[in-house]
Amino acid sequence: MKKILTICLCLLALTLTACDRGNDNSDNPSGNNDGLLVIGFSQVGAESDWRLANTKSMRETFNEENGYKLILKDAQQKLENQIAAIREFIAQEVDYIVFAPTTEEGWDDVLKEAKESGIPVIIVDRMIKTSDDSLYTCWLGSDFRKEGDAAIAWMETKFKDKADLKIVHLQGSMGSSAQIGRTEGLQAGVDRNLGWEVVYRASGDFTRVKGKEVMEYVLKQYDRIDVLYCENDNMAFGAMDAMDVAKKTYGVNGDVTIISFDATHAGLEATLKGKINYNVECNPLHGPRVEAIIQQLENGETLDKLVYVEEETFDAETITQEDIDARAY
Ligand code: AHR
Repeated sequence: MKKILTICLCLLALTLTACDRGNDNSDNPSGNNDGLLVIGFSQVGAESDWRLANTKSMRETFNEENGYKLILKDAQQKLENQIAAIREFIAQEVDYIVFAPTTEEGWDDVLKEAKESGIPVIIVDRMIKTSDDSLYTCWLGSDFRKEGDAAIAWMETKFKDKADLKIVHLQGSMGSSAQIGRTEGLQAGVDRNLGWEVVYRASGDFTRVKGKEVMEYVLKQYDRIDVLYCENDNMAFGAMDAMDVAKKTYGVNGDVTIISFDATHAGLEATLKGKINYNVECNPLHGPRVEAIIQQLENGETLDKLVYVEEETFDAETITQEDIDARAY
């Protein structure tokens, strides 16, 4: 009887451990860290090629060979999942919390808890809105407004002789810094160019599927579309799928000029082929950059609070095969 009870208890303990790891993509989820630095990383999701490249970069950097144990949690684009993940990281007493915020709003409470626990918090990719910047150690990522401004500067040159412009605006996930900055860039352009009009604006949530859905609707409603301002490559591909079916021409030799963001490998190939007219880079290779920050913290060095990544732009008229070959994502 005693033996059976012991076996039952062991089985129960094993089951509970397995359940606890349900959404845990840790490369080594054991409690024994063997001197490794434990990094809890809450990722937005897997919505785009950019995001997959970003996750790969983090995995390739934070592995046991390099002295780390990575606990990676995919939030499936939900703020509440990220908050739950950060609370778990606090309970697990990880050495560093890293997160890419789904949205800018909603972080103060959980970050106060992280601050009380004494665990340093590094924000990557997008930013948060808070009145208390002591709630995070530092931030590293893209200047999304600058990306939007670069796209608009190109449009202002290209369409300088055009009296009016009908623009369709495919937005990313609403409330994310990437959407907010790129949308602000376009809005500033529309405000200072009197003939520019956004005829339709909707979110495609940064995915190819939703980009296609929105564009299918747009093509039924509007005959004339001069510009598609599309906040990432995956949505641009979805919109192209819809335009191919509707036999609407686009790109360098077509009716619809396409502006896109990310400049992923596939995005740049489409730019070289003249399908995307202008592509603004958003660089996802943050793994080594976050590691450099962590090493500075380990060495007790002082850090810059905000670190912006340098990014380029690519014009279908001037892009080369070498630009694409040089692309690691
Ligand atoms: O925050 C970066 C954005 O998020 C990328 O532009 C988009 O593709 C991703 O999903």
